[in-house]
Amino acid sequence: MIATEKDKLMMHKARITGTGSAAPERILTNKDFEGIVDTSDEWITRRTGIKERHIASNARNESTADLASQAGLKAMEMAGISAADLDMIVVGTVTPDQQIPSAACMIQEALNAENAFAFDVSAGCTGFLYALWVVNNAISAGSCRKALVVGVDRLSTILNWQDRGTCVLLGDGAGAVVVESTEKETGIVSTHLKSDGKAWDLLYSTYGNAAKPEILDDMDLKPYYLIMDGNRLYKKAVSCLSSIGLEALSHNDLTSDDITLVIPHQANMRIIQATAERMGVSMDMVYTNVEKFGNTSSGSIPIALDEAHRKGLLKTDDYVLLVAFGAGLTWGSALVKWDI
Ligand code: UT7
Repeated sequence: MIATEKDKLMMHKARITGTGSAAPERILTNKDFEGIVDTSDEWITRRTGIKERHIASNARNESTADLASQAGLKAMEMAGISAADLDMIVVGTVTPDQQIPSAACMIQEALNAENAFAFDVSAGCTGFLYALWVVNNAISAGSCRKALVVGVDRLSTILNWQDRGTCVLLGDGAGAVVVESTEKETGIVSTHLKSDGKAWDLLYSTYGNAAKPEILDDMDLKPYYLIMDGNRLYKKAVSCLSSIGLEALSHNDLTSDDITLVIPHQANMRIIQATAERMGVSMDMVYTNVEKFGNTSSGSIPIALDEAHRKGLLKTDDYVLLVAFGAGLTWGSALVKWDI
């Protein structure tokens, strides 16, 4: 059968051509938390692997849109494209700067991406993979050629800074990838997404004014904050991350030996280790940066992907497996054949 022009476009794959990330300048260490809540560096390190996290400041222009735009610029520079080349900007976030408009439209303005259309996707910490799924399908369907996919969150703005069970875990940051249409047999190989609304109450936000710690008086704080059932979420996270990772492998007739790097959502080092064990993957193949960033929600995977690529850990034709889990509940995977 001879492919028509439309068929050819329909067969296009989506290829990641650039990565970028950005984090606020201010770092809060576990020691700093000892002056905020009843906790210790020892407890946080042993139970989570986290040593420090970045916390945004309004005074330093580190809004959600600011951080995302910085990450986007770096990704576009790597891809060798300009903002005017973008058809689409899709942003995974649960902390846009304002309820209306979307973070994506504010990022569009900051980048001057005048030819794109832009919108947010809300899927908790799985937001980046949901956004990537949207763009992958838009490119496969021929409705988009070049897109910016962003994962960004500023969870510091929705924390209860008096709840030691949550405030020590989270941080702010953004990651972005440029995704382009390609005729090559490379790029995004598969995506799998799931959600379970029955368990939404394991992690949600509620209305109320949380107190701001004195050392963070330049920080934005919204009139609602997070409530988390950490222990139950922990068990769900391990089971969902490992099962979706294994599903991606079996769907593509691959084994863990075929994968160069697994990049899991960075929530807790113990969750990452237990997930790797269940997947039969050695920790040498698992990228982690939770010790430096804490859990940055939608930012977590694209920040880690950007770091891994810039450190030279990914080569052309390597398979990298991304797995995420978050509020909703939501979870998902993307298997990517690397080609930058
Ligand atoms: O990104 C979305 C997904 N997020 C997650 O998946 C997070 C999942 N959950 C976790 O990472 C872990 O459950 C936590 C790190 C939140 C908690 O670890 P845990 O081993 O499950 O501890 P726990 O909740 O069972 O609490 C054990 C004890 C409690 O004290 P008691 O009741 O045994 O006296 C807590 O009050 O640790 C206490 N605790 C703390 N102690 C010192 C809780 N937070 C702290 C803290 N410092 N920051």
